[in-house]
Amino acid sequence: MTEKTWSGRFSTPIAESVKTYTASIPFDHRLAEFDIQGSLAHAQMLCETGLITLDDLGAIQSGMDTLLHEVRGGCFPWSLDDEDVHLNIERRLTALVGDAGKKLHTARSRNDQVATDIRLWLRHEIDRIDGALERVQLALLDLADAHAGTVMPGFTHLQVAQPVTFGHHMMAYFEMFSRDRERLKDTRSRVNRLPLGAAALAGTSYPINRERVAELLAFDGLCMNSLDAVSDRDFAIEFCAAAALIMTHVSRMSEEFILWMNPRFNFLRIGDAYCTGSSIMPQKRNPDVPELARGKTGRVTGHLMGLLTLMKSQPLAYNKDNQEDKEPLFDTADTLNNTLSILAEMLHDVHPNLESMRRAALEGFSTATDLADYLVYKGLPFRDAHEVVAQAVRLAENRQCDLSDLSLDTLKTFSSLIADDVHQVLTLEGSLASRNLPGGTAPEQVKKAAKKARLTLQR
Ligand code: ARG
Repeated sequence: MTEKTWSGRFSTPIAESVKTYTASIPFDHRLAEFDIQGSLAHAQMLCETGLITLDDLGAIQSGMDTLLHEVRGGCFPWSLDDEDVHLNIERRLTALVGDAGKKLHTARSRNDQVATDIRLWLRHEIDRIDGALERVQLALLDLADAHAGTVMPGFTHLQVAQPVTFGHHMMAYFEMFSRDRERLKDTRSRVNRLPLGAAALAGTSYPINRERVAELLAFDGLCMNSLDAVSDRDFAIEFCAAAALIMTHVSRMSEEFILWMNPRFNFLRIGDAYCTGSSIMPQKRNPDVPELARGKTGRVTGHLMGLLTLMKSQPLAYNKDNQEDKEPLFDTADTLNNTLSILAEMLHDVHPNLESMRRAALEGFSTATDLADYLVYKGLPFRDAHEVVAQAVRLAENRQCDLSDLSLDTLKTFSSLIADDVHQVLTLEGSLASRNLPGGTAPEQVKKAAKKARLTLQR
């Protein structure tokens, strides 16, 4: 059995059960490339400050080059004996280049090393997720452009409320994802700070140059307190909170697509490539993709709770508890990347059913508010107008027709203010066109909003 790197002060070898229980290598090996990146910057700085020789640096660099190939080629000899990614890489490097490998850990601890690795990894994932969000937004913009004038019922309480356009509805999600991207960007600024130099917890006595390492690794700054640098994972929690919100938005959209695909709505069709069948019911077309996206929201929200709970009772500084940050964090990023990528694809294969949406918008007296507004313009106080329209709706309901099907004479019996210009107000198009202020559903506004949004993406 190989000796543990730190086993010098122990008299009995570690129990096999403890080795397995405490190892993080089964999952943290995916940090390998970032661990190497961090070590190379650290080594370069050690050389520049005279703490290792140029020969040492050369040996470390060429050894790391070999390691990188092994990692990428899937042939790195990972070993449980070495506990985690950091010790595995250090041992392999030392096996390849000898003493230079042993010098790499000068002025460093695994505590500041792991915090650095996670930050480097997370920064990379945030950038990928941001790209995936942008693809989703572009797909939404295409739908909004194509359907700026496509009428559908807007709902409150899931009851028909007022006509809106499908494009407007899609732009609502565009807005949510814009804020999600702002949040990620903001989170990234706090992720992108360098813990190295904090060493185990108290800082280091070696004359290192932290700023230089930050510069080499493209960090925006340093973590300014060594205890904090190695112990807090608030940046990971923050990311998970942003992730949970993104998934919440995805989930709401998914829920709507699932409802809208139901024949009772029949508002849209999702292409066959993004639906699945049933093994027993030959007629079925199931919206598995949005359903799974909705479902996966639960696990991401769960990871946020997990990390908050992981952190809540830890005394300063580093505790082994923190090793538990990785699996939820990895799974959160993977779930987001996968979900957003497939969503962006699927949105290109979403086909609104214009007739069904129009019919539904005509069914629930969706222009009743427009009639009330019409009466207000003619001088009636809004509360009275509301009452007048309620009476008219009641009659139309009895006759099982729409407000616009009532004759002018019939409408006039409710208010003498009603004249022959009323029918224009009662049409779906009239209602849409009237909401022509920024943020409103008028086709003109939707087109403008989409155009402006596209420009912000191109920046
Ligand atoms: N595998 C550990 C983690 O993920 C690395 C840091 C270990 N540090 C220590 N002093 N045991 O947190």
